[in-house]
Amino acid sequence: MQVVVVESEADVAICCANLIVDEVLAKPNAVLGLATGSSPVSTYKQLVQLNQQAEVSFKETKTFNLDEYIGISSSDRHSYRSFMDGNLFNEIDINPNNTFLPDGMADDLQAEAIKYESLIAAAGGVDLQLLGLGSNGHIGFNEPSSSLNSRTRVTTLSDDTLTANSRFFTPDENQPSLALTMGIGTILEAKKVVLIATGSHKAEAVKGMVEGPLSAFNPASALQQHNATVVIIDKVAASLLQHCDYYQRVNHQIVKLAANS
Ligand code: GLP
Repeated sequence: MQVVVVESEADVAICCANLIVDEVLAKPNAVLGLATGSSPVSTYKQLVQLNQQAEVSFKETKTFNLDEYIGISSSDRHSYRSFMDGNLFNEIDINPNNTFLPDGMADDLQAEAIKYESLIAAAGGVDLQLLGLGSNGHIGFNEPSSSLNSRTRVTTLSDDTLTANSRFFTPDENQPSLALTMGIGTILEAKKVVLIATGSHKAEAVKGMVEGPLSAFNPASALQQHNATVVIIDKVAASLLQHCDYYQRVNHQIVKLAANS
């Protein structure tokens, strides 16, 4: 796991967007795994800007989102489809037919989960998976206690997650308590993973993910088993890490090796 600590939330977005752009420039038909939540919003703004400045094109790119709520239609403003259309897809040159999210309104949700896995496999697997981090350590909607080998499936949102996400819903709106999510096993199959986290409310989860034991009670700790994960965090989210100096030395070494190759 490569841990990159930067000054601010804005720097996290720039660094993350650059990694995504590098991936797409190297492989225009790359398959990107994408995330929702507050964390990737600034990264998506960067991607929109770089696309509009013709620095990168997403015409051949395919995307698979991590998750979708169950029981709200894709046109609902709370759906992750609406989030992605509004924050990214409608603003860039991607072909909308190449953007995939699980269908949380499917009659047969188990069949939908299997179909989603097949679509990812048929696309050749995910080249780069972007992740946020729940303050309880979840990735996608894989809540604490999720199997570290889990696949795309229906998941029950934890009280922590329901409380954290209630900020997006008014009291009279129905907040879904179920979702379809890629599993941890699905996520670990991505060739590269980039996880971003900012703010003091993420510091505990970051500590558990990077320096804690591998545990189903800290789903993000599963990334310790992935051999190409970059964690990009701001100083506040990194505040509980004990080995920041070492991570910085590792990063210097990586840059030096890249310059010499
Ligand atoms: C949500 C999403 C996750 C996201 C996480 C953190 O519930 N399912 O994919 O990473 O919670 O969200 P935020 O970035 O808003 O803190």
